[in-house]
Amino acid sequence: MEFLDYEAIADRGWDLEDADLFAKAADADLAPADHGRLLVEPDESLLEAAENRGFSWPFSCRGGACANCAVYLVEGELSQPANHILSEEHAERGFRLSCNGYPLSEELKVVFNVKHLPELDELRL
Ligand code: FES
Repeated sequence: MEFLDYEAIADRGWDLEDADLFAKAADADLAPADHGRLLVEPDESLLEAAENRGFSWPFSCRGGACANCAVYLVEGELSQPANHILSEEHAERGFRLSCNGYPLSEELKVVFNVKHLPELDELRL
């Protein structure tokens, strides 16, 4: 999985919808915690994978109910067994929960730390 911290996007004035977002990130020489790649085992959620590789991603309930762990899926597919908070509209826009997101595709690109985006901020408890 290739990951990117939303804060790095906001700091540089990039847009979540930029088609070349990850190429820009690769050229920007970001800190390893802000942009990089990590392995997600099939039985790991994205959040668990990040934690098991030494990263600290936002979370709270770990049960699909708070959206603190939300990520924006740029590429790939995830299963989402427990989601009690994101609507179909959120899902269509590309938002997923990392605490309950398991890889279904070989390759994933996600932006984590998106919980403060206006459309998610209002959901958080
Ligand atoms: Fe609460 Fe994932 S940590 S929904």
